[in-house]
Amino acid sequence: MTEPAATPPDMSAFWMPFTANRQFKSAPRLLASAKGMYYTTHDGRRVLDGTAGLWCVNAGHCRDEIVAAVQAQAAEMDFAPTFQMGHPKAFEAATKIARHTPGDLKHIFLTNSGSEAVDTALKIALAYHRAKGEGQRTRMIGRERGYHGVGFGGISVGGMTLNRKAFSGALLPAVDHLPHTLNLKEAAYSKGQPAWGAHLADELERLVTLHDASTLAAVIVEPVAGSAGVLIPPQGYLQRLRDICDKHGILLIFDEVITGWGRLGAPFAAQYFGVTPDLLTMAKGTNNAAVPMGAVAASAKIHDTIVGGAPGGIELFHGYTYSGHPLAAAATCAAIDLYEREQLFERAARTAPLFERAIHKLRGEPHVIDVRNLGLVGGVELSSRDGAPGTRAYDVFVRCYEKGVLVRYTGDILAFSPPLIIEEAQIEEIFETVAQVLRETA
Ligand SMILES: Cc1ncc(COP(=O)(O)O)c(C=O)c1O
Repeated sequence: MTEPAATPPDMSAFWMPFTANRQFKSAPRLLASAKGMYYTTHDGRRVLDGTAGLWCVNAGHCRDEIVAAVQAQAAEMDFAPTFQMGHPKAFEAATKIARHTPGDLKHIFLTNSGSEAVDTALKIALAYHRAKGEGQRTRMIGRERGYHGVGFGGISVGGMTLNRKAFSGALLPAVDHLPHTLNLKEAAYSKGQPAWGAHLADELERLVTLHDASTLAAVIVEPVAGSAGVLIPPQGYLQRLRDICDKHGILLIFDEVITGWGRLGAPFAAQYFGVTPDLLTMAKGTNNAAVPMGAVAASAKIHDTIVGGAPGGIELFHGYTYSGHPLAAAATCAAIDLYEREQLFERAARTAPLFERAIHKLRGEPHVIDVRNLGLVGGVELSSRDGAPGTRAYDVFVRCYEKGVLVRYTGDILAFSPPLIIEEAQIEEIFETVAQVLRETA
């Protein structure tokens, strides 16, 4: 383990992602090591991880089995191509992933990130329709406030305004969006899935009428929208999307980069909600975030149409140098073994009611206008300061960090997604700290 260093490094070269670079570098928050539920900061303070890193370290940090698997793989074989070559660990990782994917989504295309998984899924959807002789089905339907990573495909179907603004002239041309499902007037302080809002899925029928079903390739949604501030799907909403897609021959893609690997107390949100998509994207928790890894799970229908329907030779002209990278594959095998051995998804399901009770205690604290939760994910929405949206949640985030608890914020929404190994006392500590900070925040 690296000893905490006192002097921060030179920070000028690293252009940090999704970061206020000037602000950060003038008052940096540096993490130096991690174990289990905790980070240790550069200056030696322990910080309770309320966000599983970035919604990804589901089994807790630096788990011995995963560390050992990565170390062993690095020493045995650093890299092997998966274009017209192969290595056993990539196949083993895909097989283990497929043990947990829903329905007949058992064909796994490996990527290195969620963004790549999303763009891969969109391309597979296009390739499927073309292979079926319906190459005119090219339009994608995303959703307002959706986050699907930062590739051009992902920001096109995504619905986060600032992620699109600077690039708006160069987004994919054939895209439309469903409305998002958050409505504080109708559903504030819902515990679990709001009773209100299933009818919003019917907006898809409107888009089908507008564009004609024959032009529509796929609908992509996060089952629970994470990055835009934890938007929980209304009861019945996802099933209704599924039914409308089926009726019109449109593929349904679930982006499970956050909801995958136990976040809701089931392997994927698809099983939790009992709704099976045609394509499912994952990343983050796939290998507990130990090495970059993402994947797309495809149904038999899609795989067989593309692979079986090709005349011979390469069936899908798509892939990444690091698809199935040995280190990522080894980490995936070890992480999935760990999830299974410790039954972490079941554990998350058992912990969810404690999490719900604790987060809803924030109702009535200063600035809080909504609390929402499902499984081990939660959001607390704050009223915004006049003329300075986002600054209140940012201040809360910084104060919590100073008090030893890592939370996330987006706009004026605080987001929580702890590792699935969290204990009851740690849940209490997170929300008591937030309550205290809210009382101290203007
Ligand atoms: C639902 C969803 N899709 C895609 C992504 C992009 O993943 P990555 O940052 O690994 O590219 C994210 C990241 O948070 C996500 O939450």
